[in-house]
Amino acid sequence: MVMPEALAHIMRTASGYTHAIPLLTACQTGIFAALGRERRSAGALARELGMDERALETVLLALVADGFLTGDEAGFALAPGYGEFLLPDGKRTRASILSHHAHLVPRWARLPEVLRSGEPVVATQDRTPDELRAFICGMANLSRESSLEAAEKLNVGQYRRMLDLGGGPGTAAIVFARANPQLNAVVFDLPDPIEIAREEIAAAGLEDRIDTMAGDFMRDDIGADYDLVYIANIIHMLGPEETEALLRKARAALVPGGTVAIKDFYLDDSRAAPNFAAFFSINMLVNTPRGKSYTRTEVEQLLTRLGFQDLALLSVAEESAILTARKGS
Ligand SMILES: C[S@@+](CC[C@H](N)C(=O)[O-])C[C@H]1O[C@@H](n2cnc3c(N)ncnc32)[C@H](O)[C@@H]1O
Repeated sequence: MVMPEALAHIMRTASGYTHAIPLLTACQTGIFAALGRERRSAGALARELGMDERALETVLLALVADGFLTGDEAGFALAPGYGEFLLPDGKRTRASILSHHAHLVPRWARLPEVLRSGEPVVATQDRTPDELRAFICGMANLSRESSLEAAEKLNVGQYRRMLDLGGGPGTAAIVFARANPQLNAVVFDLPDPIEIAREEIAAAGLEDRIDTMAGDFMRDDIGADYDLVYIANIIHMLGPEETEALLRKARAALVPGGTVAIKDFYLDDSRAAPNFAAFFSINMLVNTPRGKSYTRTEVEQLLTRLGFQDLALLSVAEESAILTARKGS
């Protein structure tokens, strides 16, 4: 008997974790990194990684079944085309963001608890150093390509002094500074992520044009006289009142005529689409006290209320869009 589409949909979605968890685990435990170096048998890999051979082979065979690995008598290897994304040093690596997802799985599993309490399961400050590094470096994985696109769409050549507010590893500041040799930037973030930003800025050789400021953007001074304040993937962590306070602060930090650019996963007015933004809102429910995916309309209305002008929307990769607005002169 043919399975009704509704039932197929339910069963496909319900078993999604059985595919996600082996993929995330293989990334997090170094299985992909080891297989990227050379083809191995399950036994050789188990000895190298200190794993149980029977358990490892079971997982490797499932990863072959899903197309991430190939496997034959000579052993297991990464499937063609996957190395650049799955290896930590791959050109378009997503290794850190996959490790970050691995850390999120046990939190999402506590959704029943969150539904009762309305509270996040872990306070941000309780992240372990490994979790923090995977999160911040995961942001670099995601933002590298979208920042290239943002630099072009924002026409960053017109700016001279930007603030990358909650800039994490400073990816946007680095990409924008490379695109515009006249640009000076400040990356503002909490003290631990700022350490990672400093490493990235030094690796890019841009210490002369990119400064860092460590602090809490809700409480501390964020500097002034910027002609661009870039706020990427930040407001979804904040409740409406905090978002308003932060945008007010961003406005005060801009020169007259300066631009605020807010990159996020905006919902449409139905608040149930796009699909990614609707589900991302659950991530914020589980991980932050008041965060959520905002509708584009909510943010446009807020910007207008705060006195911003000339609102525009630019779409960029990885499910995002950038809302821009100008502080009147
Ligand atoms: C989702 S990440 C976005 C990073 C970067 N803007 C990007 O798009 O790649 C959010 C960033 O906000 C920072 N952050 C969160 N709360 C903050 C606060 N109160 N003050 C300063 N930075 C904060 C986090 O440390 C993290 O780097």
